[in-house]
Amino acid sequence: MSQNVKIINNPVVCKSLLTIRSKDTDSQCFRIAARKITRALLYEASKNLPMIEKTIETPIAKCCVNDIADDIKIIISPILRAGLIFTDEAIDILPDACIRHIGMFRDEETLKPVWYYNKVPTEILNPEKVYVYITDPMLATGNTMLEAVKLYVNRNIPIKNIKSLNLISAPEGIELLHREFPELEIITAAVDEGLNERGYIIPGVGDAGDRMFNTVE
Ligand code: URA
Repeated sequence: MSQNVKIINNPVVCKSLLTIRSKDTDSQCFRIAARKITRALLYEASKNLPMIEKTIETPIAKCCVNDIADDIKIIISPILRAGLIFTDEAIDILPDACIRHIGMFRDEETLKPVWYYNKVPTEILNPEKVYVYITDPMLATGNTMLEAVKLYVNRNIPIKNIKSLNLISAPEGIELLHREFPELEIITAAVDEGLNERGYIIPGVGDAGDRMFNTVE
């Protein structure tokens, strides 16, 4: 696996993965377990944020501490609808981040992304100081994530500042992203076997959006 795929597989994440994979898990338990994984992925993503040193006072003494640099901007870009599962955890962990939703759905015949919503501004100031985490639980064909990454690259955000955060990834999606952007870091809890003929990840979790929003028919 490429060094730009970071697999987070600590025991808590593995247990939560087991929960979301099981067909017997109901929607609420699915969401709770999925959020636990998103938290681990977000902490890993935050490793690329620049730090500054500060002096503060504890109740006992002065103390030199590290803080996230205050001249940067963090963008969380959930791909609607399933990418929303990351947002509550993201704004808890990174309260100054802004959430820029991206609405794309997958045409079930072509498996290509179709746009319907885009809150990414056409121009972004000081792009080298902007850090972007694009979230989608399932990195399947990679078509949707690729379009989302291009949105930010076209606004001059350095690729090293952009990360793809996915609960589960397929080798096909990873390959597509890295063919175009080898430096893009993909942070995921698992890399599964591959895709079936309908573009679903095997073994995966089924339709992540349907499972988290209780719309499995
Ligand atoms: N989207 C999903 O929700 N599940 C998959 O397996 C692939 C894409």
